[in-house]
Amino acid sequence: MPVHILGLPANMDKINAIAKKHNLLVIEDACQAWLAEWRGKKCGTLGDLGCFSFQNSKHLPCGEGGAVIGNDEEIMDRCFSFHNCGRPYGSVKRTSGYPIIGTNRRMTEYQAAILLSQMKRLEKDTQTRGENAAYLTSRIKDIPGIIPHRLYEGVTRAAYHLYPFRYKKEDFNNVSRGKFLSALSREGVPCSGGYGPQYRDGLIEVALNSKNFKRSFSEARLRRYRDELHYPGNDQLCREAVWLGQNMLLTTKKDMDDIANAILKVHENRDKLA
Ligand SMILES: Cc1ncc(COP(=O)(O)O)c(C=O)c1O
Repeated sequence: MPVHILGLPANMDKINAIAKKHNLLVIEDACQAWLAEWRGKKCGTLGDLGCFSFQNSKHLPCGEGGAVIGNDEEIMDRCFSFHNCGRPYGSVKRTSGYPIIGTNRRMTEYQAAILLSQMKRLEKDTQTRGENAAYLTSRIKDIPGIIPHRLYEGVTRAAYHLYPFRYKKEDFNNVSRGKFLSALSREGVPCSGGYGPQYRDGLIEVALNSKNFKRSFSEARLRRYRDELHYPGNDQLCREAVWLGQNMLLTTKKDMDDIANAILKVHENRDKLA
C-alpha cells in the first residue's frame, strides 16, 4: 500500500516490481494526490486499486467520504458491496443472508454535487500549486539549513497537497525546529512540523496483539516485525520536516516571495532566537 504522501508520488516502478515479483496486489493511497502523475499516468491508476479521500483538508473535499477506483470488475464489485452494507452487487451474488461483511460508506447526491462543481477548478488549482511550488523551491534552495524536497525521476506531476522542506538547525545557530516554526508563523507564514513517526504509535502494539493479526501472521513474523521497527531515516525526516499547507500555494508569485523572504529573515536573525 504505497502512500503518495503530501501529493508527491511514490516510486511506483519499484513498488510495482516488488508486487510483481511476490505476486501481490497494489493498493495506492492517493488520498492526497488528486491529479498527481507518475510517468504521465495519474496516481490511483498505477496499481490494482486507487483510493481517494474527500475529507475536508483535501483538495477535492465535500466534508467526508472517498472513492475507490480499479479495473478489475470483480474487485470493484466487492468494493461496491462492502460500501453498501455487504449487499449483493454484480459478481457478489445474493446468498441466503448478505454475501459479504460490509458497512455503510454510502455518500449522498448532495456531496456529489459539491464535488462535481469543484472538478472545474481542480486542474487549474493543481497547475497553480505546481508552478508556485517550483518557484518557491528556486527561491529557498540556497538558504543555508533549508533543504527542499526532491521528487523521484519518474514524477511528471506532483499535486502538492502540502509543500515540504527540511530544516537543519546546525545552520540556524542550533535554534530548535519548534522555535523556527514559531518565528516563521510570527512572520505571517503558517507552517507545521508535520506528522510524527506514526510507526511508533502505541496502537501498533494493540494491533499486533489483536486476534486478527495473530490469526493472520505467525508469532515469528510478528516478532520479526517488532524487531524491525527502527526507521532512522523516517525519524530524521519527522524531526526536520517543515510543511506549508496547499492553500498557501494557491496564491501568487509575490506570496511565494514573501514566504522565501520570511525564511531568509529568520535565518538572518537566528542569533536572536537561540
Ligand atoms: C494519505 C491519507 N490516507 C488516508 C486518509 C484517510 O482518508 P479519510 O479521512 O477520507 O478516511 C487520509 C486523510 O484523511 C490521508 O491523508
